Amino acid sequence: MDNRAIGVFDSGLGGVSVLKELQQQLPHENFVYFGDTGRVPYGTRSRQTIVKYAMQDIRFLLSKNVKMVIAACGTASANLTPEYLEGLDVPFCNILLPASQAACSASQTGRIGVIATSATIKSGAYGKAMRNIRPNAVVVGSACPLFVPLVENGFIERGNPVTRMVAEQYLAPFQSGEVDVLILGCTHYPIISETISDVLNGRLPLINPGVETAKQASALLVKNNLLRSGNEPGHTEFYVSDNPESFGEIASLFLGETIAADVKLVDLDNFAADTGNFGAVPS
Ligand code: DGL
Repeated sequence: MDNRAIGVFDSGLGGVSVLKELQQQLPHENFVYFGDTGRVPYGTRSRQTIVKYAMQDIRFLLSKNVKMVIAACGTASANLTPEYLEGLDVPFCNILLPASQAACSASQTGRIGVIATSATIKSGAYGKAMRNIRPNAVVVGSACPLFVPLVENGFIERGNPVTRMVAEQYLAPFQSGEVDVLILGCTHYPIISETISDVLNGRLPLINPGVETAKQASALLVKNNLLRSGNEPGHTEFYVSDNPESFGEIASLFLGETIAADVKLVDLDNFAADTGNFGAVPS
């Protein structure tokens, strides 16, 4: 048993789609959520910058004494390869493997679509992960960079005309039946999954990485004997690096509960962290 919180990070709001599933599957756990809203988006940046930001996010979570770290960000998951995690002395999970496993099992034909940020698509990480699981998998990736600012700016309600218009353009390659499953490879996208599904006429099963990642995190907690003791409901602390009000407002809409008063601003350059052997941030 371990009563410390679980740390969850993303570049901004997207990780809330993972947090929602974690809260549902692990209702007695406490969470510390960090959204790097001062530096979002990550998905248009170089690998080196993404790695540097993600490692700083992890260091912040470690300063909160978390018992596990979850990269609730597809872009960080695709770029933060194992060598960067050396010395991290708590269990870590990202969204890449759980989403890839779910897609490989759900697909009949082995032809799998992935929509994600430009950096994730460029990394080829989903293709590699899925061909490890299903060697004949054919992966069709497409970057949808405008989805992240649409979500960050609150264009999230079902059928929002701007989001719908953008989705129609981005999803055109998936209308022809070329793939039989579509991974929402960026955690911002499940926040607009109703619009995405409407544009595809509900024809393609969508893989929400949050659902799969929460299952993997639960299994890791059990395996490492890290579940929180007792039956009290857990709570979540929210931290962001800019604009807590806007984050609080949009996250409240998506989570269906008011969290605005709980969102604290953090200065990433000035916090005390004893991160043990976890690597120095590459400059
Ligand atoms: N939500 C993130 C992802 O899953 C990051 C999006 C971004 O910052 O560009 O990729």
